[in-house]
Amino acid sequence: MRLLVTGAGGMLGQDVVRAAEARGDEVIALARGDLDVADERAVAAALSDEPVDAVINCAAWTDVDGAESDPDGADAVNALGAGNVAQAAAHAGARLVHVSTDYVFDGARSPQEGAYVESDTPAPHSVYGASKLAGEEAVAGAGADLSFAIVRSSWLFGVGGRNFVATMLALGEERDEVTVVTDQIGCPTATAHLAPALLALARDEDAQGIFHVAGSGQCSWHELAVETFRQAGIACRVLPCTTADMPRPAPRPAFSALASERDDAPLLPPWQEGLTTYLAQRGVHA
Ligand SMILES: NC(=O)c1ccc[n+]([C@@H]2O[C@H](COP(=O)([O-])OP(=O)(O)OC[C@H]3O[C@@H](n4cnc5c(N)ncnc54)[C@H](OP(=O)(O)O)[C@@H]3O)[C@@H](O)[C@H]2O)c1
Repeated sequence: MRLLVTGAGGMLGQDVVRAAEARGDEVIALARGDLDVADERAVAAALSDEPVDAVINCAAWTDVDGAESDPDGADAVNALGAGNVAQAAAHAGARLVHVSTDYVFDGARSPQEGAYVESDTPAPHSVYGASKLAGEEAVAGAGADLSFAIVRSSWLFGVGGRNFVATMLALGEERDEVTVVTDQIGCPTATAHLAPALLALARDEDAQGIFHVAGSGQCSWHELAVETFRQAGIACRVLPCTTADMPRPAPRPAFSALASERDDAPLLPPWQEGLTTYLAQRGVHA
């Protein structure tokens, strides 16, 4: 298969390129410096110059707090950029796999009500979440000719970028204790597990619409920190705190666990296995 990956220099993009090359796909990997998805003409030109079977859009503004003070900047990439990629893919007859986020949900439901599924109504509270929802709408509205899958995932960690687990590993080497919130629940997802699922969806022309694809199970950031130190063999205590104790510019959903109601959605291994895979990639062992 011939694939074009946007945002190929990012944490997920790097793993998508790695996984595609490992399975023998021909990959055109375009990092931000190679292709700015906010540049409509450049995106159209890239797709007409390079006929491909599918595009995997990993390009995004992912600075959740920074988006609050620069909504136009976030929209340019996450909304308009997604629309540019979708329009160009439709024009070129390429299938599109577009990556979105659990932050499109408000997170107001209780864990007892169960994880969010594809048919639940998004209601983002942050500028980032709103820009990603606008991106989903731009993809879905790009025309009947476009074959697409919108993949919502969550709490990503991978060797190609900054992430919560990497931060915990660094802090755990320096400190005896860290303080982490207990009242945000989600699905930690290894990009090494998500990437092959995106490739499977790129191949599956029958898979249309929105898919929730995240590490199985759910936990709080506090539980993720505890499990990180346990698996890494780091003696660092994890003290509990609440979101109110640690104010941030952007609101986070309190409960944003994802599950799928679709029988054609790829299932990922439990998040603890994702963590094991990530630590092994980093050469960290207990
Ligand atoms: N990280 C998470 O926890 C998480 C959770 C759920 C969903 N997601 C989604 O997963 C996808 C991948 O995120 P990630 O974690 O891999 O983030 P990332 O490491 O920040 O990767 C995003 C990439 O997009 C690039 N980019 C930014 N603006 C661009 C533009 N105008 N044109 C082209 N490329 C541009 C970035 O380049 P620079 O680094 O040079 O800015 C970066 O390489 C995104 O759609 C994100 O919304 C992430």
